[in-house]
Amino acid sequence: MAEETDVELEARLTEQDYFRPPAKFVGQANASDPAIYDEVGEFPEGFERYAELLDWDERWDEVFDGSNPPFFEWFVDGKLNASYNCVDRHLDERKNQTALLWEGSEGEQENITYQDLYREVNEMAAALRAQGVEEDDVVTIHLPMVPALPITMLACARIGAPHSVVFAGFSAQALAERVDSADSDYVVTIDGYYRRGEFLEHIEKTDEALDQMDRDPQVLYWTRHDEPTGDVSDDYTNVEYLLEDHRRERVKPVSRDAEDPLFLMYTSGTTGKPKGCQHRTGGYLAYAAATSKYVLDIKPEDTYWCAADIGWITGHSYIVYGPLALGTTSVMYEDTPDYPHKGRIWEIAEKYDVDIFHTSPTAVRMFMKWGEQYPEEYDFDFRHMTTVGEPIQPEAWLWYYKHIGDEDAVIVDTWWQTETGGHLITNLPALEDMKPGSAGKAAPGIEPALVDDRGEELEPASGKAGNLIIKNPWPSMLQTVYGNDERFISTYWADFSDTDSDDWRDWNYKAGDGAVQAKDGYWRILGRLDDVMNVAGHRLGTMELESAVSEVEKVAEAAVAAREDAEKGEVPDVYVVLREGIEPSDAVKQEIVEAVEREIGKFARPSNVIFVDDLPKTRSGKIMRRLLENISNGEELGNTTTLRDPSVPERIREQVQSD
Ligand code: WTA
Repeated sequence: MAEETDVELEARLTEQDYFRPPAKFVGQANASDPAIYDEVGEFPEGFERYAELLDWDERWDEVFDGSNPPFFEWFVDGKLNASYNCVDRHLDERKNQTALLWEGSEGEQENITYQDLYREVNEMAAALRAQGVEEDDVVTIHLPMVPALPITMLACARIGAPHSVVFAGFSAQALAERVDSADSDYVVTIDGYYRRGEFLEHIEKTDEALDQMDRDPQVLYWTRHDEPTGDVSDDYTNVEYLLEDHRRERVKPVSRDAEDPLFLMYTSGTTGKPKGCQHRTGGYLAYAAATSKYVLDIKPEDTYWCAADIGWITGHSYIVYGPLALGTTSVMYEDTPDYPHKGRIWEIAEKYDVDIFHTSPTAVRMFMKWGEQYPEEYDFDFRHMTTVGEPIQPEAWLWYYKHIGDEDAVIVDTWWQTETGGHLITNLPALEDMKPGSAGKAAPGIEPALVDDRGEELEPASGKAGNLIIKNPWPSMLQTVYGNDERFISTYWADFSDTDSDDWRDWNYKAGDGAVQAKDGYWRILGRLDDVMNVAGHRLGTMELESAVSEVEKVAEAAVAAREDAEKGEVPDVYVVLREGIEPSDAVKQEIVEAVEREIGKFARPSNVIFVDDLPKTRSGKIMRRLLENISNGEELGNTTTLRDPSVPERIREQVQSD
């Protein structure tokens, strides 16, 4: 754990007042009976309630099979199709209701009804099949926030081809790595899309990625307008033309085993290579649907807007799978919140009369900085608001509550991860009071706990900081790291489990976060304990950044430290030692920034590049990033006695201060 004493910690985390959920919310909530905690908490049968929210082709024989830990199985021998559950099953009751409400950069609007979605998903599924995609083939999808993205995902799910969506902001190199790592023979992309009103030629990234990957995938591309814009290779297949050949075709949803993978989602970890988190079909969809229902309080007649990007797990679970499984109307917006003006979000909320709004603390801090005059201009009325992805400071929470929620909406602060598939720590909004800055209590059936570095469990609700673990398995936990069971075990289980045991009770999932549980049982998440940063809610591995920087030939060594940032939460500072004879210059800085953009993406751009003579290292040569973090954040230097040269951090600090 961090070198902070519990007393210091207590002092920093001043307790906050509670806020009651408004009576008008409580009266209509999906989860209004506290018995849900006990019922779902009945392990493992309690989770059957979640699975029963779905339509199954065949019911499961066994809820949970823990015989081969940590390879747990859920709803064993059950069969279902995710696309059927998100589309077909709603046709009887609401075929003319909007499923996806898309707002384009220029104010274009598309209302895709469930019937439209059914037609489009079927045609795309037929097209993919005709191009050779078979059950279990991994399809890489590199699409921005356009309807083609959920349509392609659901088409893949329909034919049992796991998708691997790569966030559109990732670079060609990052795309290439993910295609290779997922053994994927198909890439679905688009000619371009709009960012701050400007057309970005997105397909270039695929062109470049093809030169950088080992595989030779087939490329299919959608077009942002009726005809392709820009320069598109003749080797690629235009999806719109292809769909012409499959008009009105219907594809029977493939009955998938509950344990068959639905998708891969790559995420950053402590090594240079991102991990492909593999999610199962049955348990994942059941848990995404149930948390959408009970935590987000989604009802079919709602207009629900999660302003995340589908390219991250939040969008998978809470724009596409959860909301559509419940048959609601889910809003998608193509561009940034400040384009063409800073009231854009509220303008859309008013236009569609959004009931439930879901965003990140980074966005809330940005809205707060812009000022309340923007939301005040528009007439919208949220019943429910969510934050996700980072800790939210009480100040930002209170602003969100007052100026966006009008002190009349509930807020849930949801803690979870790419690996967990759905919310694990969050209040059920009608059943618990809100406490600014706290994620709240554990979700039903979830058993978080804290352990010290030796793995000893802390007293529950002790107010002490520890490593967050999850004791019992849950249905939407990742199945494994794609193609790398060993990495799955070493990353998530080895530290706090008895790995020799066949008893699932001896296995604890390590979240990688530090947390505190206050006396009232509420959890506060303190942030990552491993070498993972959280930049504007985007997860980035420091090693990934370092390996990108090291690609620059002039760089001898690099270390990345997370600097706290009032808006983005954290930003990367890069400390660089240049090779002999290379002089520090703005040109070299620029080269380093470009390397990060090339290897990962523009969103990962370093905030500062600091040239130093040496890095703080232990005697065994390990870089002490924590000391650099102290320097970046203007904190006292932690323990330096184990350093090979204890004067190094002080020298760096003086240099940083004088810059
Ligand atoms: C952080 C995003 C505080 C945490 C869904 C976690 C949070 C990482 C919260 C996962 C929250 C997520 N409060 N911190 N409510 N939610 N985090 O995989 O450090 O992109 O480990 O999943 O985000 O990020 P990921």
